[in-house]
Amino acid sequence: MIKDIKSIGVFDSGYGGLTILREIVKVLPQYDYLYLGDNARAPYGSRSFEVVYNYTLQAVTKLFEMGCPLIILACNTASAKALRTIQQKDLHRINPSGRVLGVIRPSVEEVPSLTRNGHIGILATVGTVASQSYPLEIEKIKGTSNFHVTQLACPMWVPIIENQEIETPGADYFVRKYVEMLLTKDPDIDTLILGCTHYPLLIHKIKQYIPSTVRIIEQGPIVANKLQDYMIRHQEIDERCSRTGNIRFLTTESSDLFENNAEVFLGKRIEATQISLD
Ligand code: DGL
Repeated sequence: MIKDIKSIGVFDSGYGGLTILREIVKVLPQYDYLYLGDNARAPYGSRSFEVVYNYTLQAVTKLFEMGCPLIILACNTASAKALRTIQQKDLHRINPSGRVLGVIRPSVEEVPSLTRNGHIGILATVGTVASQSYPLEIEKIKGTSNFHVTQLACPMWVPIIENQEIETPGADYFVRKYVEMLLTKDPDIDTLILGCTHYPLLIHKIKQYIPSTVRIIEQGPIVANKLQDYMIRHQEIDERCSRTGNIRFLTTESSDLFENNAEVFLGKRIEATQISLD
């Protein structure tokens, strides 16, 4: 491992975080990145609070050990279930000068500028929906606006993506099913948050079943722009991140499998290294 590279760590349960990484790299190509996918234990979406927290803490600890000064949890489930506890209880012990950021708050901050009628739909994993993180964050930023938030868990979507079943009739069936269920719960939704970093990989299908007037919030570009702002506001972190434009990939599954699947998501061949987190 190259010791003096101080990469920005990007973590997800599997491939979903690649949708965040590819947008971050477009906006901030100068930095070095270390992506970690816990593919061997994905999906996280239906796992308990305790398990997601423990797995995420292991991943964060590993990325810090590998020299990352800053880590992005490019996973809503980990952001919902582990981010706050890690920031408040673990960080001072494992790496007091390190920083860990999530993807939920930045996405929610976009809501007021996008919705016209205040009806917000959230599609996410079972864990993210159950955590109530989105309604709670929206409540915090609402000011004088009135928001009507409707959430729906889509437990079949991540397995479809992780198993390369995106272009199949089965994927069409489950995309249509959950989108229609959400719109049945609230037909007035005008803004839809894709609250799972895997879901942009299904966006071409989601758009087939959602009225074209509905604005879809994809997290990649939002997180990328917010990270750029963050680096400007936090010079002390910015200075500690190295800049050689290097991107490395770690996975807890076989590196061959990761390399083949990541190529589909990133549109180019990459090299990955298999590691163990426990
Ligand atoms: N991509 C993750 C998210 O944003 C997790 C998906 C999963 O592992 O279930 O929630």
